[in-house]
Amino acid sequence: MSPTVWTPQRWRELPAAQQPEWPDEDDYERALKQLAALPPLVFAGEARRLTRALGQVAAGEAFLLQAGDCAESFAEFSADAIRDKLKVILQMAVVLTYGAGVPVVKVGRIAGQFAKPRSSPTELVGEVELPAFRGHMVNDDAADAAARVPDPRRLAAAYHQSASTLNLVRAFTKGGFADLSRVHVWNQQFVASSEEGRRYEQMANEIDRALRFMAACGIDLGGEESLHQVDFYTSHDALILGYEEALTRMDSLTGDYYDCSAHMLWVGERTRQLDGAHVDFLSGIHNPVGCKVSASMTTEEVLALCERLNPGRVPGRLTLITRMGAAAVADALPPLLAAVQDAGHPVVWACDPMHGNTFVSEGGRKTRRFDDILAELRGFFAAHLAAGTWPGGVHLELTGDDVTECLGGFGDILEDQLHERYTTTCDPRLNARQAIDLAFRVAEMLRT
Ligand code: TRP
Ligand code: MN
Repeated sequence: MSPTVWTPQRWRELPAAQQPEWPDEDDYERALKQLAALPPLVFAGEARRLTRALGQVAAGEAFLLQAGDCAESFAEFSADAIRDKLKVILQMAVVLTYGAGVPVVKVGRIAGQFAKPRSSPTELVGEVELPAFRGHMVNDDAADAAARVPDPRRLAAAYHQSASTLNLVRAFTKGGFADLSRVHVWNQQFVASSEEGRRYEQMANEIDRALRFMAACGIDLGGEESLHQVDFYTSHDALILGYEEALTRMDSLTGDYYDCSAHMLWVGERTRQLDGAHVDFLSGIHNPVGCKVSASMTTEEVLALCERLNPGRVPGRLTLITRMGAAAVADALPPLLAAVQDAGHPVVWACDPMHGNTFVSEGGRKTRRFDDILAELRGFFAAHLAAGTWPGGVHLELTGDDVTECLGGFGDILEDQLHERYTTTCDPRLNARQAIDLAFRVAEMLRT
């Protein structure tokens, strides 16, 4: 740790992994200055409210649903796409709330998820080697060298797209769209006609009946705010530290710093070095933060990370997002659960069953098997049951669209169908049917 007092700039003294090579440093710094003058996207009070909600998760009284795109796209940006993504997340939330009977904390990978860590600085596109695509906040995914040059004007573009996404999300979640009386409306056509869609309809009918029952008992449903809206939070990988620094502001109420680019920020497997810039940055902001945890992480590393990111042991401050792979979770997770429990750290444990289960299909497309995703979730729940810890949540990559990116599920997408509707700019996502199917299965795991 650096001996100086924490500031939003202190990370600059430390090695920062995964930062783009901007062609002109001055252009980059000018872009950051402009960002620093723009209004915050979220407010400190909202971030504190999320910490409290996650504190309930840490205490075993609620469940975290964190979901959205692998990478948001400048190209696929429309009101319909945002609405459809929200529909699926609301559907999953209601399946989990009704099916497992626990409150669900809803967090999107949305309104800021524009930067991607890469394992290699270049990638092979067909026959040509190009600089890697690093997310639309940095460069373009088109297959030519010019498109791959980092462009600092993209930072402001990402900010503005985040602002309009967030504006729509707030309108949808607070303005009637998320009202429980609309539980049927979230079921999209292509979902409704499927097995998992029918199961959802049945549950929605039961919710209707329960609401009518309560009304008949004399409860004033109209006056019951919580039935008509949801708290929905935003999150992303805090990868491009200049962007995060520029949106970090001191809260006038408490004098604490908050990164106002999103309610929750996390660091990934490639940027979680204990003495690195990313962990230092997260250590000083007061938002709830997360860290991805792979099967290769040692108990010493996890404990050091807990100390570094949550020395005050604030429940809800730190979420550990395990992404171990279906084959590794049963061996790798239990020692970490025991160590963190023994040390008395009140973390949220969430399962990311996506990133440890990615492989390249014979046709050359990155994909994941629905069954592997389920298997990692089962391993996660089993390990927590054995340890006496709370399986606090799931972290998923999904879309509201009818894509063919992950294999299997009820619709049974096969390898030779992947090309049909494969639109992700990065990792393969669950489609709406697979996501709802998964929610029912997680609800079952939570019940038992
Ligand atoms: N406000 C409650 C909650 O967020 C109930 C609720 C209203 C809800 N609309 C919802 C739950 C949509 C899930 C999905 O839990
Ligand atoms: Mn991803």
